Amino acid sequence: MLSAKTIEIVKSTAPVLAEHGENITALFYTKLFDNHPELKHVFNMTNQAKGEQKKALASAVFAYATHIDKLEALGPAVTRIAHKHASLQVVPEQYPIVGKFLLEAICDHLSLAADDPIIIAWGEAYGALAAIFVKTEEDIYQDNEDKEGGWRGDRTFVISDIVDEAAEVKSFYLKPKDGQAIATWQPGQYVGVKTTPDTSEHTEVRQYSLTNAPNNAIYHITVKADAAHPEKAGVVSNYLHAASIGDEVLIQPPTGEFVVQNDADDIVLLAGGVGITPVLSMLLDRIETGRDVSKLTFIQCCRDASHHIKGETLNSNPSAVYRKKQCYCR
Ligand SMILES: Cc1cc2nc3c(=O)[nH]c(=O)nc-3n(C[C@H](O)[C@H](O)[C@H](O)COP(=O)(O)OP(=O)(O)OC[C@H]3O[C@@H](n4cnc5c(N)ncnc54)[C@H](O)[C@@H]3O)c2cc1C
Ligand code: HEM
Repeated sequence: MLSAKTIEIVKSTAPVLAEHGENITALFYTKLFDNHPELKHVFNMTNQAKGEQKKALASAVFAYATHIDKLEALGPAVTRIAHKHASLQVVPEQYPIVGKFLLEAICDHLSLAADDPIIIAWGEAYGALAAIFVKTEEDIYQDNEDKEGGWRGDRTFVISDIVDEAAEVKSFYLKPKDGQAIATWQPGQYVGVKTTPDTSEHTEVRQYSLTNAPNNAIYHITVKADAAHPEKAGVVSNYLHAASIGDEVLIQPPTGEFVVQNDADDIVLLAGGVGITPVLSMLLDRIETGRDVSKLTFIQCCRDASHHIKGETLNSNPSAVYRKKQCYCR
């Protein structure tokens, strides 16, 4: 429980820290990776190169400080981040490391001593937030472990099939190497896929939505070969596109909070491009479990017919008597 004094100090200094946020977080990541290079295997190093993480991790801490007197407002954000952390296997021991270098970066950038009341208050506040994440993440890990076919951490899967779905998009069918049951999921959830591509010096983890209907035997992921940068193609998606049947990947159990929130039949599933992946599982789940999909509307937008992911399957599915709308942007 944070004291009223701590809350007051953190809240009053939050705007100042947020204003210096990008400089503080840049310093934070430099210190973090200099002292713990092993964490380069946890973070997405492409995002580091692009500078995108400066806006994420530590900025969230500053947003938290703004709401420190009404923590319930943070619930949905904490859930979303904790699910992502779980797909990356973030563990409790890593929180003090992040906290230490975040506080050091604040001290250095603002020329504050380590025993300045502001730093003491921020240390306490960070600890309280870390405790919320550790608890939320442990609940996710435990739930996944307790499920039929569930597990915690890495599990080896074998690519059992590769299917061309559209231009630049392939599905990968993943079966567990041990031949045992796997954890089912809520449509819309994703798995963490851990790889060691030759194009990277680090282990690389990315998230991919599950695109088949929930079951205890096989996961389908549907991946676009990402290459927004002309000289640096996306590491993991292109590694997967170059993979062969029989290759192995490490998979973290399904996580994610983007799931259908109500039980109504007349839902609208709307997606564009490869963003269709989570809603595919939602649609297929309803079809395969015999739900009434006649009131369901499925809107899929893509560049043109060649980029229409699973277009043929969706159009030819005899059970798919839902309202379909396909929009081509060109
Ligand atoms: C919850 C969730 C679910 C997802 N589900 C799916 C899914 O179902 N299917 C899917 O295809 N994707 C999905 N994604 C996205 C996926 O996780 C990856 O982000 C995506 O595949 C790109 O990863 P990569 O390793 O190939 O690319 P990265 O190496 O991460 O690169 C990303 C992009 O940055 C570009 N780039 C590289 N270096 C630079 C630089 N220096 N400056 C600017 N640009 C640069 C690359 O060319 C590439 O286009 C999901 C993401 C999340 C968070
Ligand atoms: C209280 C402390 C923390 C906060 C507030 C926080 C916040 C965040 C936020 C906001 C994101 C982006 C989520 C998204 O993309 O949806 C994120 C992602 C991430 N976090 Fe945390 N985080 C914390 C602690 C940690 C710790 C201890 C680790 C492990 C060392 C960690 C590792 C990661 C990684 C690897 C990502 C994915 C980002 C990427 O690699 O591109 N975080 N975190």
